[in-house]
Amino acid sequence: VSKEVTLMKQAHHFASEYYHHLLLHTEEGENALNYLEERGFSKEIIEKYKIGWSLPSWEALTTLLERKGMDLQEIEKTGLIIRKENELKYFDRFRGRIMFPVYDESGSVIAFSGRILQKSDEDAKYLNSPESPIFQKSQVLYNLDKARLEIRKHQNIVVFEGFLDVIAASKAGITNGVATMGTALTSQHIIKINRLTSNVTLCYDGDKAGMEAAKRAAGSLQAQHIQTEIAIIPDAMDPDDYIKTYGEDAFRTKIIEKPHSYLSFMMIVSKRDKNFNNENDTLQYIQEILEILSERTSTVERDLYVRQLSQETNVSEEAINQHLRKLQGNKA
Ligand code: CTP
Ligand code: MN
Ligand code: MN
Ligand code: MN
Ligand code: MN
Repeated sequence: VSKEVTLMKQAHHFASEYYHHLLLHTEEGENALNYLEERGFSKEIIEKYKIGWSLPSWEALTTLLERKGMDLQEIEKTGLIIRKENELKYFDRFRGRIMFPVYDESGSVIAFSGRILQKSDEDAKYLNSPESPIFQKSQVLYNLDKARLEIRKHQNIVVFEGFLDVIAASKAGITNGVATMGTALTSQHIIKINRLTSNVTLCYDGDKAGMEAAKRAAGSLQAQHIQTEIAIIPDAMDPDDYIKTYGEDAFRTKIIEKPHSYLSFMMIVSKRDKNFNNENDTLQYIQEILEILSERTSTVERDLYVRQLSQETNVSEEAINQHLRKLQGNKA
């Protein structure tokens, strides 16, 4: 490991302790602590994930790093501090945000995500560290350091959309969860997953964006021959909202333990915005599902789903089968 990387990780470790201290033990951190408590974060969770608070100041962290004699020019490469234009001076990237440290697989802090306290039109809800020599977004799975053994033990990994969902789920006993850092699931993520297990449960947000992201993630996983099931959160909630509303037991028994197959998930999602009294909607639905079904080799599976499609849409099984054969013919 190079001297630079060691220094960058040291600076992140130091910053995470500093932010964590500000949240728990200072007056300036009180609002943020109240916010977290209102959202159901216990002291234990705050400790476990080393959640913190960054002061709404331009140089609080920069000054401390400087006083420690750290090489600011190197640290700047991680985006933790930013260089002023045309000057050899630096300022803090994260100001007035709840700080979530991001860990690598061996448990070193390599980045942060900072959440604003209140919804605002000017500021993005989350501000993340930029790509750097120690942080590659397309590789990092949030919580993998803590979840690894659990993933191996259960031979299953749950992939969430947001890291707050990972934290909420772990409180509910789902300790094999990870999240991407606001990016799609990449092939590098999938390589990491594949080393630990070949069973994935996707548990993305229940809104349209989440369902679309789940569709794409499921596609990428299946292309790598990973068994993929999808847990669906109702009413456009996310896992964290669901747990707040219906409780931890319901989340485990009704959502995580009852995931859908890819086809069943696609039927549910595709049906959402369709009305089977409308001919176009009906045709589009049948077309979408048959396109997936035409890739399947099991005749039992085909038979089963053709019957279900027919019952749902009132189109005869015969007509659906005919359409299916045509799709398969096109491929052959
Ligand atoms: N994200 C991001 N920047 C944003 C919004 C989202 O990087 N402006 C990423 C974050 O990694 C976040 C994930 O996308 O964890 C999911 O976004 P969202 O569903 O909006 O966040 P929640 O986890 O639901 O956050 P909250 O409950 O605090 O609204
Ligand atoms: Mn502590
Ligand atoms: Mn979302
Ligand atoms: Mn969400
Ligand atoms: Mn949320």
